[in-house]
Amino acid sequence: MSHDYEIKDIALAPEGERKIRWAEAHMPVLNLLHKEFDKEQPLKGHTVVMCLHLEAKTAYLAEVVLAGGAEVIMCASNPLSTQDDVVAAMANKGINAFAVHGCTDEEYHKFLHRALDFMPDLIVDDGGDLTTLLHTGRSSQAERVIGGCEETTTGIKRIRSLAENNLLKFPMIAVNDAFSKHLFDNRYGTGQSVWDGINRATNLVVAGKTAVVIGYGWCGKGVAARARGLGARVIVCEVDAIKANEALMDGHEVMPLEEAAARGDYFITVTGNCSVIKGTHFDKMKDGAVLANAGHFDVEISIPDLETITVKKNEVRPNVDEFTLTDGRRLYLLGQGRLVNLAAGDGHPVEIMDMSFALQARCVQYLAENGTALGAGLYPVPLEIDRGVAQTRLQALGVQIDTLDDKQKVYLKSWE
Ligand code: NAI
Repeated sequence: MSHDYEIKDIALAPEGERKIRWAEAHMPVLNLLHKEFDKEQPLKGHTVVMCLHLEAKTAYLAEVVLAGGAEVIMCASNPLSTQDDVVAAMANKGINAFAVHGCTDEEYHKFLHRALDFMPDLIVDDGGDLTTLLHTGRSSQAERVIGGCEETTTGIKRIRSLAENNLLKFPMIAVNDAFSKHLFDNRYGTGQSVWDGINRATNLVVAGKTAVVIGYGWCGKGVAARARGLGARVIVCEVDAIKANEALMDGHEVMPLEEAAARGDYFITVTGNCSVIKGTHFDKMKDGAVLANAGHFDVEISIPDLETITVKKNEVRPNVDEFTLTDGRRLYLLGQGRLVNLAAGDGHPVEIMDMSFALQARCVQYLAENGTALGAGLYPVPLEIDRGVAQTRLQALGVQIDTLDDKQKVYLKSWE
């Protein structure tokens, strides 16, 4: 298909271009891949649809995939994380782009369809919406797909469910589960960027307040650690006894949300689950409590429950909605309950996404070369790719590490 796009305004491209070049300057691993892809053209003849948070780092990933010889189509994985200037810059350089910040759900799904009209043979997904569409309304074109990569925990859960029900139609690689991804992106990336989003949205102090972090997975650990670094008292709420023990040993208080509800100044959900903060919790919260979600979908904070007890709703700052309740208390919801770090910020720090997106680029290459032989299923990132990305980052930073000598190698492999 010829180059096409549906975006806010192509005239915004110069500002988007500046943002992308800043990202590029801080993504050494992806820069090396860019050079290699440019020279070796591993994706020549392939059509790649990428459904991601459309901001500067993803735009640079798109450039790398384009440099590898592919036709590239970008659509958004969330209506609020799209940066219109960045999307304009992508469209300006031959990337097909379908996304507008703040679009309706209907438009969001129309854009997914427009991207799939290009009949991709490779996909990169974040949250599983594109993959789901290829198993529902667009299932007739699933057989063309050699394979895909999934970026996040929530998307992998959905794909695993498809696979367990024998419905998955092509190979998908669980990029999130690579060591070079979740140990850094979910923990340090979410940890830093969630507080960046909250602070930008509210401009309020964190020190001396109580932050309630709900979900102590990889993301929750990061959010809790950074809350403490900013001077907050941290309460963790969990449903998993092992994670709850981890939180205790990391020095946080642990209690049920029913109890924590009355104590928190900030509440951050990061579970990948639905209706985590609901009616009875809102009833107990202090006047002025701030609610933010960092999990993939906007279902972790029950907005319908909140609206039931609301008499007035008012946008008091960009990305801050004030809900005045029947008893006069005010609760503040950030970014409409969508991923706060992307709705109210620029997402993860650039250097973090350098690793995550280097994994994505390598996995797309791996699928182009091996996808047809793999068969439908959910696959881990090959260990050599995972370690390769970690090693390349160390090289780029000029950091050297030790290596095993022969005696140690034999010792570690022996049972005696
Ligand atoms: P994880 O699976 O490591 O952790 C989730 C934790 O939530 C688990 O420990 C689970 O026991 C807990 N949980 C589930 N339901 C709960 C409930 N009702 N109450 C309390 N705890 C509950 O997942 P991970 O990697 O930490 O991801 C969490 C979410 O964040 C996912 O939706 C993921 O897609 C998303 N994510 C968001 C990012 C961002 O930029 N904001 C970046 C990466 C992931």
